[in-house]
Amino acid sequence: MAHQLNGLFPQSLLKAFSVLIFIILLKDVCNGQPQLIGPSQVLVARAGEDVILPCHLEPASDVSAMTLEWTSSSLDTKFVYVSRGSQEIETLKNPSFKGRTSVFVDEHKHGNISLRISKVKFNDTGTYRCYIPEMKKDAFVELVVASDTATSPVITLSGIDKNRGGVVLQCESAGWYPEPELLWLDGEGNLLSAGPTETLRGPDDLYTVSSRVTVEKRHSNNITCRVQQRKISQSRETHIHVPEDFFEIPSSSSAVITGLAVSLALCIILLILSVVVLLLGKRKHMMKNNRRPKDHTGDVQVSTEEETELLNTSSSSTKTKKQTSYVSR
Ligand SMILES: *[C@@H]1O[C@H](CO)[C@@H](O)[C@H](O)[C@H]1NC(C)=O
Ligand SMILES: *[C@@H]1O[C@H](CO)[C@@H](O)[C@H](O)[C@H]1NC(C)=O
Ligand SMILES: *[C@@H]1O[C@H](CO)[C@@H](O)[C@H](O)[C@H]1NC(C)=O
Repeated sequence: MAHQLNGLFPQSLLKAFSVLIFIILLKDVCNGQPQLIGPSQVLVARAGEDVILPCHLEPASDVSAMTLEWTSSSLDTKFVYVSRGSQEIETLKNPSFKGRTSVFVDEHKHGNISLRISKVKFNDTGTYRCYIPEMKKDAFVELVVASDTATSPVITLSGIDKNRGGVVLQCESAGWYPEPELLWLDGEGNLLSAGPTETLRGPDDLYTVSSRVTVEKRHSNNITCRVQQRKISQSRETHIHVPEDFFEIPSSSSAVITGLAVSLALCIILLILSVVVLLLGKRKHMMKNNRRPKDHTGDVQVSTEEETELLNTSSSSTKTKKQTSYVSR
């Protein structure tokens, strides 16, 4: 017991100490110096909407008199917005944001320097930085302006790969922004290795993606084409069921199997017919016998027994024949 405690005690003590040190450090950082805080998640907007990029000081303090800067990773020069003492300096603003960015001046005394961008465009997508030079503090906001016009992927059969005994499928989907990725999956959800994804960009900045894959019979035949934007958790997918006989090359085993099945059926029909003919013949024979005088009664009884026996054996032998033919196939 004492031995066990010796083993456990120092470890948990160490854990407690490190947590304590972490809390002390965290408190020091938070108390000593205000921090700029941005959103923890990617902001997603639709083209044409207005968005607010959040950014504020914590703990709050008045920044009305300070220089406030917003820049974007998508711009080489100038600012998205810049102000000094709550006055915007428009000469430093990038023309692509002219008349489209503003701040909430009343909020500055609470340390809130959030930025509003109106009528966002696809190419406003990027990482924005709010910065207070006097405090050397910054925070980042990731904005994605996404389209809502993406079409469900369309899968078409584009050919047969005779070398690999596979079927070539093509998938295409249009109306995407930002650029999506395209995946092929088999029925168990495993990734299929496909050709490179072709990407086209239209005059409206929207992306069309397409890809081809060769599907083999072993992939099970429920194939999925998925187009997705992982960063903003958007996806669309289409399933296709490839019939098994698509994998057979013409005049190969499938034709042989069909031929076998047909001849088997013919054999069985012929067998049944011949049995029926045989029985009918026998019955006629018996009816003739029945019309004979009474002294032949014993004969008739015997032949009736023969008839039932014949019927039983022939039907059971037909069954056996059927079974053996299936097995041998
Ligand atoms: C900052 O101001 C904007 C605009 O009024 C508001 O939406 C946002 O909630 C404010 N942020 C904080 C932390 O108060
Ligand atoms: C963004 O796209 C608009 C048209 O939609 C174009 O006028 C502008 O120059 C583009 N800006 C950048 C930085 O590419
Ligand atoms: C194919 O697989 C998907 C899931 O990957 C499933 O939702 C769908 O119902 C399946 N279709 C068929 C015909 O099995």
